[in-house]
Amino acid sequence: MAMRKKLLLGNWKMNKTPSEAKEFAKGCGEMVAYAVNKGIDVGVAPTFVCLEAVKALAPKDLIVSAQNCNENDHGAFTGEISIPMLKEVGIGWVILGHSERREYNGETSEKCNLKIKALLANNMVPVYCCGESLETFEAGKTKEFVEEQIKTGLAGLSAEEVAKLVIAYEPIWAIGTGKSATKEIAEDTIGFIRGVIKGLIGEKAEDVRILYGGSVKPGNIAEYMSMPDIDGALVGGASLTLDSYKGLIEGLVG
Ligand code: PGA
Repeated sequence: MAMRKKLLLGNWKMNKTPSEAKEFAKGCGEMVAYAVNKGIDVGVAPTFVCLEAVKALAPKDLIVSAQNCNENDHGAFTGEISIPMLKEVGIGWVILGHSERREYNGETSEKCNLKIKALLANNMVPVYCCGESLETFEAGKTKEFVEEQIKTGLAGLSAEEVAKLVIAYEPIWAIGTGKSATKEIAEDTIGFIRGVIKGLIGEKAEDVRILYGGSVKPGNIAEYMSMPDIDGALVGGASLTLDSYKGLIEGLVG
């Protein structure tokens, strides 16, 4: 049985000005030390303009992730941020394929595949998101939908490369709605995703961390963590304040 380290990643989305982000970074020292001491990884994903300040002010053990990147190193891509830019400010993680970016910014699994390859070539960690809409869920088509996202996003990667990824399963109907998936639904889909990855790379799939996301809060995170295939959480709204973030860590530690 692979020992996968639990991971809490706060997705700040388009929240916090740089001064607000700095407050969080300055105030999270004790809780990050507690988490590390308990053997869990913790991180946040601020907006681009906050990354450098959070990196500078937070304890070095706090993972600081971007929320997107471009797959090209440089060039005429107005409004985009490249991997070398992120690397220079010390960022090693990037969230890709979040459902909000898929919906509002035309991010596709094919595009994510290019970005995943570019990140891995730079020894960075992609956090690849997948998840179905309410319509797909109600039609009972979650598994085939998510399988396609996983197979396309991970196409052409070696087993060693896939093992370095973090996957986040976030049913769209549970994001920001307060309507979280039950732990059984989350486990069922995440176990299925692990099976799909096993089909691609074999037993190394046991090393891949798969997170649940969608209305995770201090009060319900422990339920998800009790499930064998769920390795942590990608949390939006409840990751924004120091108090709530601390509650998430405590819930995760159990
Ligand atoms: P939420 O967002 O926790 O606010 O539902 C999760 C996410 O979109 O990553």
